[in-house]
Amino acid sequence: MHHFHYKDGEMFCEEVPLKKIAAEVGTPFYVYSAATLKRHFEVFDASFEEVPHIICFAVKANSNLAVLNLLGKLSCGADIVSGGELYRALKAGIDPKKIVYAGVGKTEEEIEFALKSDILMFNIESFQELEKINEVAGRLKKKARIALRVNPNVDPKTHPYISTGLKKNKFGIPIENAYQEYEYAASLDNIEVVGAHCHIGSQLTEISPFVDATKIMVDMIKTLKSKGINIKYLDLGGGLGIKYNEEMPPSPKEYADKIIDVIRGLDVTLVFEPGRVIAGNAGVLVTRVLYTKETELKHFKIVDAAMNDLMRPILYGSFHDIKPVKEGHYKTVYGDIVGPICETGDFLAKDRNLPDFQQGDLIAVMSAGAYGFTMSSNYNSRPRVPEILVNKDKYYIVRRRETYDDLIGPESIPEDL
Ligand code: LLP
Repeated sequence: MHHFHYKDGEMFCEEVPLKKIAAEVGTPFYVYSAATLKRHFEVFDASFEEVPHIICFAVKANSNLAVLNLLGKLSCGADIVSGGELYRALKAGIDPKKIVYAGVGKTEEEIEFALKSDILMFNIESFQELEKINEVAGRLKKKARIALRVNPNVDPKTHPYISTGLKKNKFGIPIENAYQEYEYAASLDNIEVVGAHCHIGSQLTEISPFVDATKIMVDMIKTLKSKGINIKYLDLGGGLGIKYNEEMPPSPKEYADKIIDVIRGLDVTLVFEPGRVIAGNAGVLVTRVLYTKETELKHFKIVDAAMNDLMRPILYGSFHDIKPVKEGHYKTVYGDIVGPICETGDFLAKDRNLPDFQQGDLIAVMSAGAYGFTMSSNYNSRPRVPEILVNKDKYYIVRRRETYDDLIGPESIPEDL
């Protein structure tokens, strides 16, 4: 459920007409609904109320400070994958005791930053990383709390680029090696083994891969406990899918019920790292039609947003629903919604039946609140678009539109060239 709806012939985000934001801020822009973010977090949280758990929002999905702050106030933690994400999470006021840190390539500086910030745990992805964290913790005279990220070799049945829990993927430690690695980790002076982690992929629309992976983790934890390695946290990652088009993903409650069934009797605190299911349908990208043209084959609607603003369509062939901001009876035409970038892959919708938008019309690209702005770039020297947060009848510019000076700010021309 989200709070983008039509009223009086116009699309609103909560109680604010998108047309009003477009008139005042210009286009394109991302707009997020605070009520939707809150609702998604609360539904997920309530689904697990019968077991001890911590929810760590996957910052990579949406890392805007205001969004993180809003979630932090609801007692949400953060799943981070870089020093930059740690910096954002802390600045947004997220409790470091609810921060978990994954990623296959943590640098020494990043490890040091996380240790000094006293995060909940590192989710370790390799033997060498374990040794590096032990070494840095020793230098800082600290003990690093760690979980091993285990690769359970379960097929998440999602897009190959966002599958992470298969043997052929770079992530985690193969399940076969996990016991040996745990024993080694437990023997290290500056390491405290506290958890076990897995994350098998993103945009999962079936429950069974989650259940399969959780069973593998539960068996492993039982064996580890019998060997005297006490696992306090079972971090099951993120990955729950959302509805972009025809998908019928399980609800958080259905997901929770199945997971709770599998972990029953195990004395652990569950950790979850949802990203998309919290933020995806809480945001849209609003863009304006600059020009239209028609060829023998199709209609092109050329808009002011482009692949640098929303990469998902070209990167994964992702579908985003396209809705008119002004409700009406549009003729249906076949074609593409394309941006101004000089690449054939620059489209937001391709080979689809679309409303016959006209020059000047506003379009809402739906379900763009996760992996939308965070994956945007300055390609073609396009300033990144603003992010707007709506709360009831008010909107806030929570990231202003970049300027041309922002584009060249970090650059310099050598004087003696
Ligand atoms: N935890 C870890 C360790 C992850 O790698 C990810 C996502 C998540 C949690 C959150 O997954 P979620 O609940 O959002 O599915 N750019 C792609 C998605 C990449 C996901 C990468 N990892 C997209 O636009 O679909």
